Amino acid sequence: MKIAILPGDGIGPEIVAEAVKVLRALALPLEMETAPVGGAAYEAAGHPLPEATLKLAQQADAVLFGAVGDWKYDTLPRPLRPEQAILGLRKALGLFANFRPAICYPELTHASSLKPELVQGLDILIIRELTGDIYFGQPRGRRTAPDGPFAGADEAFDTMRYSRPEIERIARVAFEAARQRRRKVTSVDKANVLETFQFWKDVVTEVHRDYPDVELEHMYVDNAAMQLVKAPKKFDVVVTGNMFGDILSDEAAMLTGSIGMLPSASLNERGQGLYEPSHGSAPDIAGRGIANPLATILSAAMMLRFSLKQPEAARRIEAAVQKVLAQGLRTADIAHEGCTVVGTAAMGDAVVRALG
Ligand code: IPM
Ligand code: MG
Repeated sequence: MKIAILPGDGIGPEIVAEAVKVLRALALPLEMETAPVGGAAYEAAGHPLPEATLKLAQQADAVLFGAVGDWKYDTLPRPLRPEQAILGLRKALGLFANFRPAICYPELTHASSLKPELVQGLDILIIRELTGDIYFGQPRGRRTAPDGPFAGADEAFDTMRYSRPEIERIARVAFEAARQRRRKVTSVDKANVLETFQFWKDVVTEVHRDYPDVELEHMYVDNAAMQLVKAPKKFDVVVTGNMFGDILSDEAAMLTGSIGMLPSASLNERGQGLYEPSHGSAPDIAGRGIANPLATILSAAMMLRFSLKQPEAARRIEAAVQKVLAQGLRTADIAHEGCTVVGTAAMGDAVVRALG
């Protein structure tokens, strides 16, 4: 089982180191190789996704990814910005299905900005289409100053676009996932305004005919944003496009009060996957040893389950994380009265000990 380890920028290297520690403690035949990505790769090799890094990712069964980005790269031309690494990996590996669970851990209910009764026991799954939509639509560009600075342009545009097969396959992923859960899918669109999303709604409705045992509801994205804070527990699986999924998954993550806890998986049709925490590179706290490694450790668990077919090892990691939380250990982002605040490495060590 080959794993490409791409730590990236900001807190990426610190949190990925803890996940690697936990993976090594499992004593499975895992072959891990590390490569730079994002700003770190730009510094080292002049490109956020160097050829060698991409090749390593393509040849691996799974990629464990930290985070990329730092404000200091904001002035670089777009193709050289750290974010292009993750977009490039998604496209090159065909990682069209992005799973972003939002789970409220009982010990962390207090961390939510919503009333505890609204989020207690929350367990929703956002499934975001990841390789289409306005993120990758052509044409895109600007007018008047094709290569020059934006200051000289008088128009810029991106194109929202989905093809039938792209919608069909993500809809199937959502209905299949719902069958393992509470059998409800909310498809989020903007069909009242956008052609792309009327098409989305129609195709999802067609695919639903094959899943009569799953309830399907359609919801406009603005309403979905509202319902997520009004009554989040009414959702089970939410399926949506790339752009709306980007926004709603951040919103859903924050309902749990602890974005530092949430893993994610991005899969292609062959089951190859990229696993990363739902949070970003947090350059403001990088290098201080205080970042929460649990989202990355839980992403490693998702990797074992989805791409490496090691469900037992995945369960061991998840149980260890629960145990550590029950012991009262917290990193600063989820700290509260009466808990024991620990740093990044100490949290990783505690998870290793809790593996039993
Ligand atoms: C995410 C991030 C990325 C996205 C950025 C870093 C390109 O926000 O994974 O949600 O917009 O998809
Ligand atoms: Mg995002």
